[in-house]
Amino acid sequence: MSDTATETSAAARTVEGISALLEDGHVPNFIYNDADVFELEQRKLFGRAWVFLAHHSELPEPGDFVVRYIANDSVIVARGNDGEIRAFLNSCRHRGAKLCNAEMGRARAFTCIYHGWTYDRAGNLTGVPFGRQIYQGLDKAELGLLPVAQVDEIEGFVFGCLDPAAPSLRDYVGDFAPYLQLVTRRSAAGLEVAGPPQRWVVGSDWKISAENFVGDAYHTPYSHHSTYEIGLMGYSSRDTMPGGPKTGFHVQAGNGDMAMARRARENEMGYPEGTFDTFRTQASPEVVRMFDEGVGDGSGSWPTRWHLFPNLSSLNLPVMIDGEIVPFLTIRLWQPKGPGVTEVLSWCLVEADAPEEFKQRSRRAYTASFGPSGMFEQDDMENWRTISRSAKGAHTRDTPQYVRMGEGQEIRPIAGWPVPGTVWPTQYTDIPAKTFLRRWASWLSQ
Ligand code: FES
Ligand SMILES: [Fe+2]
Repeated sequence: MSDTATETSAAARTVEGISALLEDGHVPNFIYNDADVFELEQRKLFGRAWVFLAHHSELPEPGDFVVRYIANDSVIVARGNDGEIRAFLNSCRHRGAKLCNAEMGRARAFTCIYHGWTYDRAGNLTGVPFGRQIYQGLDKAELGLLPVAQVDEIEGFVFGCLDPAAPSLRDYVGDFAPYLQLVTRRSAAGLEVAGPPQRWVVGSDWKISAENFVGDAYHTPYSHHSTYEIGLMGYSSRDTMPGGPKTGFHVQAGNGDMAMARRARENEMGYPEGTFDTFRTQASPEVVRMFDEGVGDGSGSWPTRWHLFPNLSSLNLPVMIDGEIVPFLTIRLWQPKGPGVTEVLSWCLVEADAPEEFKQRSRRAYTASFGPSGMFEQDDMENWRTISRSAKGAHTRDTPQYVRMGEGQEIRPIAGWPVPGTVWPTQYTDIPAKTFLRRWASWLSQ
């Protein structure tokens, strides 16, 4: 390596160094597979930010629970008898055994398999075997499960935050909140999960997937070319190239990003008749305007893909199934498991009151394109794995990646957008990726 490259790498080993490199349009490979970076993220980012836990339809009744993660801490998310959703560290207060070993279910209480301590749905310690005989002064009230400091939901998405001093979920989501309505308000009954999430582990860093969903339209015509060739999308990959009819615009608001496509106003995108009329009565007027008038060029808009920092992503795509356009909605969580290792949790969501037949077709559209058997997903995973593998190379790890797409083109935000946020006229720019990485570096530096 040249001296310059070596000097660059030494400086980039600090968060300040990474930030400086980023301002120069680069990011060092090592951040995508590094034990120190992973530890820092666990403490400074996942230990303090609002992290997605569940969709509320996974917990419809008291006693319903799912086990999820915040950082690499296992967390029980449970609905109490009072209807409130709470979250607790999944660790017995006695000697620390993992309390709940199921992934989801309905429980009257949680009983530890080691010595049998029992906690109710609200996390209170209610049972200690032989308690009176063997303990003096054991205060059950002091030994309830340790709660996740804050739990809240927005548009049916439930989040938790380990930091009691963190701002509210609403403040955290900020101006991105109205954009969520684009996918949540198409039914008076709201969304529901079409079954439990698919889960799989990939040898890739969570940031790679996140950045891809934040703003990598560039890979679509190349990586996913074959999916277009077999007709899954109903149009050519050429249409997604710069200037093509399927390239849209990009919105940044609050802690979120949304890649939006143009939609002909009469295009129902394969949803059951009347779905968008329902949406127009459910969503706030400025959101309806955003949907129907888009950037003001005669077409409406469509929420193709979004991401909420740090690790929740979503896609809402129409694909071709048996010659028909069928839309699906997925949300996915990129759960960091270790340096360069991510567990993916991927849900398919449907409008709760949609006809059963539509729900099934939508789920089929999802599994054909995303999830571990989906064609798009398999293309993506293979790419992402290679990046984390490269990021570990003794020499490659300190070399910089190139994040300068769109620089020098004087890309200006579109004015007159009805909802707070910055609208970029193209998705062929690294502005979103850089924003994500700046945000990430900022959390790590505080
Ligand atoms: S560790 Fe849970 S009851 Fe002992
Ligand atoms: Fe992709």
